[in-house]
Amino acid sequence: MNKFCAAAASLLLIFLANISCSINAVNVLDYAAKGDGKTIDNEALNFIGCNGVSVSNITSEDSPQVHMSVYQSNNTDIGFVNIKAPEDSPNTDGIHIQNSQDVRVHNSDIGTGDDCVSVGDQTRNINVTDVHCGPGHGVSVGSLGKDETTTVQVSHITVTNVNFTGTTNGARIKTWAGRGVQLEDVIFAEAKGTSASEVAIKLDCSEFVPCTNIVLDTITLTSAISEKQLISNRNHAQGHLKNTVLPNSSAYLVTSILHSSVAADAIAHIHQHKHFEL
Ligand SMILES: *[C@@H]1O[C@H](CO)[C@@H](O)[C@H](O)[C@H]1NC(C)=O
Ligand SMILES: *[C@@H]1O[C@H](CO)[C@@H](O)[C@H](O)[C@H]1NC(C)=O
Ligand SMILES: *[C@@H]1O[C@H](CO)[C@@H](O)[C@H](O)[C@H]1NC(C)=O
Ligand SMILES: *[C@@H]1O[C@H](CO)[C@@H](O)[C@H](O)[C@H]1NC(C)=O
Ligand SMILES: *[C@@H]1O[C@H](CO)[C@@H](O)[C@H](O)[C@H]1NC(C)=O
Repeated sequence: MNKFCAAAASLLLIFLANISCSINAVNVLDYAAKGDGKTIDNEALNFIGCNGVSVSNITSEDSPQVHMSVYQSNNTDIGFVNIKAPEDSPNTDGIHIQNSQDVRVHNSDIGTGDDCVSVGDQTRNINVTDVHCGPGHGVSVGSLGKDETTTVQVSHITVTNVNFTGTTNGARIKTWAGRGVQLEDVIFAEAKGTSASEVAIKLDCSEFVPCTNIVLDTITLTSAISEKQLISNRNHAQGHLKNTVLPNSSAYLVTSILHSSVAADAIAHIHQHKHFEL
């Protein structure tokens, strides 16, 4: 059954400091949403050019594509939301944030066929805290730079206390090679749970503009498939590890494996408090 704001206990509160922004709340029933990722009228709840929006205590289920998006909006608070779509429904991101700053996503339960939360181009000061994520692709910064011709700047992204359950990746960063993407100051902290794929942590940046000051702090991700060994995958991402970070065995993407110096670094960087660099 498809429903949006359907549960009796659910409540939608939107406080607008700036009413000139557009809020496009699509009743997904009107579009025969099946979470197939193909239906054209995509976001179920879409904020564009808003300042000071607060959304809480809603349930969004089986959106045809992205469930909620924050675009060109500042000072947004999304909390206590419940987002659900089938694991096999493509492009059904939970919350997508782009061209926005000062956004908080917290105390929410998100399970979809794509990213639980995705942070896109031109974003700054985004905090994701106390979220249960799964199924889905994890919490992603990127893909950055896909559609941009100008320099993409993304900074101060903090992802804290996310419980991943059987997600494809836990923490993921992806920038498009050859694009002017400047990604800096990203913290993934207190992540726990399970990963359904081998690569639980995947940091994939461009060799032309490496990602800088990426911090992984207190992470324990184990395999959703018993006894399977997980790895972290890192490419052109600079930063450091704090406290226990598991998986702590690393593999590098194909381009890095070509450089022989990388092998030594792969051993070195997994020790606590060591800086890693490529
Ligand atoms: C958001 O902040 C940016 C940078 O200060 C500003 O250019 C933009 O107009 C703001 N947008 C809104 C909707 O307030
Ligand atoms: C949303 O739900 C949380 C947890 O149940 C509650 O503490 C909070 O007061 C609710 N917020 C609103 C605006 O109703
Ligand atoms: C995000 O967290 C940092 C560190 O706690 C804080 O300084 C910043 O103001 C927070 N940003 C938002 C949008 O809540
Ligand atoms: C994480 O979520 C799983 C599945 O819902 C749950 O069993 C587990 O207790 C949670 N872990 C923590 C530390 O909250
Ligand atoms: C990786 O984690 C395992 C399990 O906690 C630990 O036994 C091992 O010493 C760690 N290796 C490094 C290099 O930190």
